[in-house]
Amino acid sequence: MKRVVILISGGGSNMEALIQSMNGDYPARPVLVLSNEPHAGGLKKAEAAGVPTAVVNHREYPDRPAFEAELLSQMEAFRPDIICLAGFMRVLTPDFVRRWEGRMLNIHPSLLPKYPGLRTHARAIAAGDTMSGCTVHLVTADLDAGPILGQAKVPVFPNDTEASLAQRVLAEEHRLYPSVLRRFATDGNGL
Ligand code: GRF
Repeated sequence: MKRVVILISGGGSNMEALIQSMNGDYPARPVLVLSNEPHAGGLKKAEAAGVPTAVVNHREYPDRPAFEAELLSQMEAFRPDIICLAGFMRVLTPDFVRRWEGRMLNIHPSLLPKYPGLRTHARAIAAGDTMSGCTVHLVTADLDAGPILGQAKVPVFPNDTEASLAQRVLAEEHRLYPSVLRRFATDGNGL
C-alpha cells in the first residue's frame, strides 16, 4: 500500500478527488495533506476526510531553501512513497525536485507540452483551439515539462469563457488524477 502526501495551496478539489478514490482495493492511501497557505480551503476538506494536515507558510521563511527544508522535514515524517502536487502554487527548486524525482506527480490544466505555466484556458481560447484538457506528469526541474503519465481531452466551444473551459477541464482532472495515480502506485511508472 503506497503512502501518498498531497501538496495544496487552495481549494484542493483534485486533492478531494484523490482522497475519495483512495479506499478499498486502491493501492495507495493519503497520509498527509500539506499546504503552504494557512487558510487553504482544502485543509478543511482533508480534516473532514480524517486525513492529517500540516501548514508550512512560505511567508514565514527567509528564502526558498529554508521553506523547502521545513516542507521536506514535515513530509519525510510521514514516510511518503509518492508526492502528489494538486493545485500547489509554489515553484520548487531543482534540489527539492531531484530529491523526489520519479515519485512526484503534478496535474496541469492543459494538454502539455502546450501551455505550460499559468492562464492555460485563456491561452487555449485566444489561440482558437477546438480541444484542450489536462495532463498528469512526473515533476522535473523544468516547470510543467516532465514525462507525461496521462492526459484527458475536452472540446473547446466557440462561446467558451475561461471559467466555462476551466470547469469542463477540472471535471476531467478529477477523473484523470485518481486513475493515473492508481496505475502509478501499482506498477511504479503509470506509463
Ligand atoms: C486546477 O486547474 C489544477 O489543474 C491546477 O490548479 C487548479 C486548482 O486545482 N493544478 P485544485 O482545485 O486546487 O485541485
